[in-house]
Amino acid sequence: MPEKLKNNRAIAMLDAAADGGYGVLGIVSYNLETIVAAVRAAERKRSPIQILLFPWAIHYANGLLVNLAADACRSASVPITLHMDHAQEEDIIVKAADMQTQGQNSFDSIMIDMSHYEKEENLAKTKKLVAHCHARGIATEAEPGRIEGGEDGVKDTAELEGLLTTPEEAQEFIDTGIDFLAPAFGNVHGNYYGVKNIKLDYPRLDSIHRKAKGQVRIVLHGTNEFPPDILQKCIKSGVTRINVNKLVLHKYNAYVEENTGKVPLTELMEKGTQLIQGLIEEHMDIIGSTGKA
Ligand code: 13P
Repeated sequence: MPEKLKNNRAIAMLDAAADGGYGVLGIVSYNLETIVAAVRAAERKRSPIQILLFPWAIHYANGLLVNLAADACRSASVPITLHMDHAQEEDIIVKAADMQTQGQNSFDSIMIDMSHYEKEENLAKTKKLVAHCHARGIATEAEPGRIEGGEDGVKDTAELEGLLTTPEEAQEFIDTGIDFLAPAFGNVHGNYYGVKNIKLDYPRLDSIHRKAKGQVRIVLHGTNEFPPDILQKCIKSGVTRINVNKLVLHKYNAYVEENTGKVPLTELMEKGTQLIQGLIEEHMDIIGSTGKA
């Protein structure tokens, strides 16, 4: 591991999860309510977590939301790290890697998602950007193959065809120097429209894990509607970080839709925060991170 990464908190957190056989939530955060709920849940359950922002956060609020999230991570009483998820443009990756909050890197890790390019170009760009991040002590993630679908806040690549990851491709990406690997094995971003439509290729995940073991940590994307048994099965197959979006936000989304304009804004925010916190805590128990901070 490069010297600069020896103190990287995101790597240490996922290494501990791999050793302990549990998962760590990567919580997609769009707003203050989610960040507050994530920190409260982590402190209450004594659980490590990673907070995820999309590049949208920078386009929307420049450094403001990033500073808020980074500050929340640094001042929490349990380990919480900040991850930039699905950064798909070179300039935003460079910008995110250079961002500082109170004299420290704002981001502990960045996903260099060049999956919208053909493989050779993807690999070349990933390698260059990994070096840029590592020089600053920031861990990196990449997506070999292409996870199908799209989601709110990520540049629209939903029309691109999904490509399942092979173990050989996983190794090609590991060779770029990445620290975390996000395989495509039947998982999709966005909606499955029912648990019966979740069709994961576990033998493929197992073979990617065998290749990755001892080199990089595996990250699970596209978990909307995943029930506890599927989450636990993925952890058994080597997943360490579990990215969650609607899995912890769906009650909040429904509450806001139902109550906007009917209750005071402060109540909407406070009740909404509680709903997110409750689902995060439930999922900490499910994936076994409770008490691991
Ligand atoms: P989705 O489940 O909505 O895709 O979000 C989680 C994720 O994978 C973020 O990268």
